[in-house]
Amino acid sequence: MSRETTHSITATVLDTFSECTDARLKQIMTALVKHLHAFATEVELTGDEWRRGIEFLTATGNKCVGIRQEFILLSDTLGLSTLVDAINHGRPDESTETSLLGPFYREGAKEEDFGANIARTDGEPALIRGRLVDEEGKAVAGALIEVWETANNGMYEGQDPDQPESNLRGKFRSGPNGEYAFRTIKPTSYPIPTDGPVGQMLLATGRHPMRPAHVHFLIEAPGYETLTTALFSAGDPYVQSDAVFGVKPSLVVDYVPNDNAASAKEWDLPGPFFEVERDFVLVRQRS
Ligand code: BEZ
Ligand code: FE
Repeated sequence: MSRETTHSITATVLDTFSECTDARLKQIMTALVKHLHAFATEVELTGDEWRRGIEFLTATGNKCVGIRQEFILLSDTLGLSTLVDAINHGRPDESTETSLLGPFYREGAKEEDFGANIARTDGEPALIRGRLVDEEGKAVAGALIEVWETANNGMYEGQDPDQPESNLRGKFRSGPNGEYAFRTIKPTSYPIPTDGPVGQMLLATGRHPMRPAHVHFLIEAPGYETLTTALFSAGDPYVQSDAVFGVKPSLVVDYVPNDNAASAKEWDLPGPFFEVERDFVLVRQRS
C-alpha cells in the first residue's frame, strides 16, 4: 500500500468504484468524490474545520423531527433545491414557472367551494382569482388547486398550535372555464426557522432569514405535470433577497386595492380589499 498524497488520493478513491454495476450511482459517486476533494483542496481545509463541518451536519440531522426538516432547509438556503428544480423543470416559455414546495406543506387540506374564505385569523382581506389553462390557452377544468400561506404572525397553521384548524390553507377545484377564486389575507414576509444549525449558518455568514410574502400553490390535473409554485408580493422588502432563492420575476404579482362597495358585497367582504388576478399555465404530461 503506497502512501497517498493530495495528488493521488482522489484517483485511488475513484478506482474503488470501478466494479459498481449501477451506472448512474457510479456517475454520482465519482462526481461527488471529485468535487468534495476539489473543495477541500481549494480551501486547504484544516482538521479542526473538517470536525466542525461534521458537527454541523450531525446537528442538522439531529434537528430533523416531524415537519421540521433541517436538511431541506440547508438545501434551500444553499440554493440547491432551486438548482435541482431548475435542472428538472426547464419549462416551455409559456408555462408557469415553478417554485419551492417548502417544508410546511401539509397533506389533507379541506376541499372548499369556489370563492371560499380560507382566512380564520385577521389580516388585510384579499381575493385571488384567475384561470388554469394549457399551453394553447384552453381551459383546464376539474384541476385541484391547493393553497397555503402564513398567518400575520409569520407562522403556518402546522407550526402554530394557537391557529384554528385549516387556517389559511385549502383545496379548490377549477370550474368549467378553468376558473378558480378564493378569499384570503394579503400575505406577510416571514423568517424561516432560525433556532437550528441553518439559522447559525445564516447568522455567521451575515445573511438574513426572511422570505418575501407569498402564497403557495400546488396544482394537479390529470394528464398535466403537477405544478408546484408560489405568488410573491410586488413591493415586498425581501422580494430581491429571498433567503431560499425561490422568487422568479414571473411569479411576482401586484395586490391591487379594490374599494368598490359592489365588488366587496359580491364577494361577501366587509369593505375594501386587495385583488390579484393570475392565470396558471399547465404543461401536458409527455409520455
Ligand atoms: C416556505 O416557503 O414555506 C419555505 C420554503 C423553504 C424553506 C422554508 C420555508
Ligand atoms: Fe412559504
